[in-house]
Amino acid sequence: MPATTLDQLVSLCKRRGFVFPSSEIYGGLQGVFDWGPLGVELKNNIIASWWRANVYERDDMEGLDAAILMNRLTWRYSGHEETFNDPLVDCRDCKSRWRADHIKGRCPNCGSTNLTEPRPFNMMFKTSVGPVADADSFAYLRPETAQGIFVNFGNVLATSSRKLPFGIAQVGKAFRNEINPRNFLFRVREFEQMEIEYFVMPGTEDEWHQRWLDDRLAWWESIGVPRERIRMYDVPPDELAHYSKRTFDLMYNYPTLGYEEVEGIASRTDYDLGSHSRDQETLNLTARTNTNRDSTARLTYYDPESKRHVVPFVIEPSAGVGRCFLAVLAEAYDEQMVKAPPAERIGAVTDALDAFLKSVGRSEKLAPETRDALLERGQAICEGLPETMPQIETLLAMPGADQIELGKKLRGQAQGPIDEYFRTVLHLKPHLAPVRVAVFPLKRNHEGLVAMARDLRRTIQTGSSFRTAYDDTGAIGRLYRRQDEIGTPYCVTVDFQSLEDGTVTVRDRDTMQQVRIPASEVRAYVGG
Ligand code: GAP
Repeated sequence: MPATTLDQLVSLCKRRGFVFPSSEIYGGLQGVFDWGPLGVELKNNIIASWWRANVYERDDMEGLDAAILMNRLTWRYSGHEETFNDPLVDCRDCKSRWRADHIKGRCPNCGSTNLTEPRPFNMMFKTSVGPVADADSFAYLRPETAQGIFVNFGNVLATSSRKLPFGIAQVGKAFRNEINPRNFLFRVREFEQMEIEYFVMPGTEDEWHQRWLDDRLAWWESIGVPRERIRMYDVPPDELAHYSKRTFDLMYNYPTLGYEEVEGIASRTDYDLGSHSRDQETLNLTARTNTNRDSTARLTYYDPESKRHVVPFVIEPSAGVGRCFLAVLAEAYDEQMVKAPPAERIGAVTDALDAFLKSVGRSEKLAPETRDALLERGQAICEGLPETMPQIETLLAMPGADQIELGKKLRGQAQGPIDEYFRTVLHLKPHLAPVRVAVFPLKRNHEGLVAMARDLRRTIQTGSSFRTAYDDTGAIGRLYRRQDEIGTPYCVTVDFQSLEDGTVTVRDRDTMQQVRIPASEVRAYVGG
């Protein structure tokens, strides 16, 4: 079963080092996160899978990596200086600041309706380039990667000899000064985008829009996010961005959050290339653009058939890496009861959980919403026991739980049975798993076993595109659990028989079944 709450994912990311708050030792920075050792592997594998599907496996795409800092004029003519705004309101009572469209007229902090009128807030971060900070040195951190592609359209066309239709793909950082960053990786101020600008002959854009929708849904399926978990939202005209003729938003059913946008597929007409072109009046543009007296280029395509210069139309599939990472984790997440714990141990956990929740209910230290969140989650766990027992780890990692003394007792009662009778497992697709293969010696203090296991790890790793790990820091059962929790598809154990006949056991993460094969065949077996 996929994750049922966002907290399950936050807790896993924290305890296994997928994601850390940025500059945590100084109190962090709101809306900014760092990728830990496992997080960076999973993220890189997602990006590699996207690049492979959209650049290598097609014959109509080129890649690009444009700079984050760009000439400020880019953002004037893209329309971002004027329109990249969110409506901002202040609460006059508690002085907090909110996005007007997120709060339904009531301050989420203190409940007051005494709010200021909404006013536009531009979300682009500003910086200065060079030693003197004046009006001429002013630059923005890009709020999307797309504009780097549009301003390079002429360069790519001239150097690649592409014919329409063709696309340019880019993965890179984007920055938005979100008013209220929230929900872990979902809404942050620094994030990565995977964007495609696909250039087509005017008049064919609707057909290509549909084709890209189908292609993108197939990719989501290939990384473990099935079609039935994504809703397609055909954005109504009054909600469309300033550049869009039509947009399909892919909405993933996130735990706790419900359906939220994970990718947008926009039909951007000739707005972008037209906006960044000179001589606009000669280009027969359909889009309404600002008059551009600064550009030095006409971003057009010479169509050999009609012998005319045309401004291509654009289809843009654009996905956020962090939102994709969360969706992949949510889908892969599973808590399984491997064996039923004995009744007396369930009873002891139930009593400790009861006592903990009573203490939460009586606590004067906890803010009301923290108390309610703990109680709501705790009661749901109580009702679902014993299956929900692993969620006690998540409960105890929630904000405020550490202020309740009885949490220690609950952890004491619950941790043993959780480790013994349950497992958390990430059913990640093997090509996404942070570690594809883990190799263990049956005994860590046996020289022969350790040497063979270390050697095997090196052999599997050498020349392969995935990560292979060695671990001997616990008993085998515990090592399996640790790898299950990070989604390692294959665990290889070197035992005494290995020393005699050169075979090893390979355990499958999902079925927990083991096969014995020659060590020399492991690489091929795991798909290397
Ligand atoms: N070039 C088009 C564009 O940037 P967008 O809908 O604003 O369109 C595209 O962003 C994707 O980037 C979104 O679907 C989402 O996955 C991701 N994204 C946007 N803002 C984000 C934020 N503050 N935090 C995390 N991801 C974000």
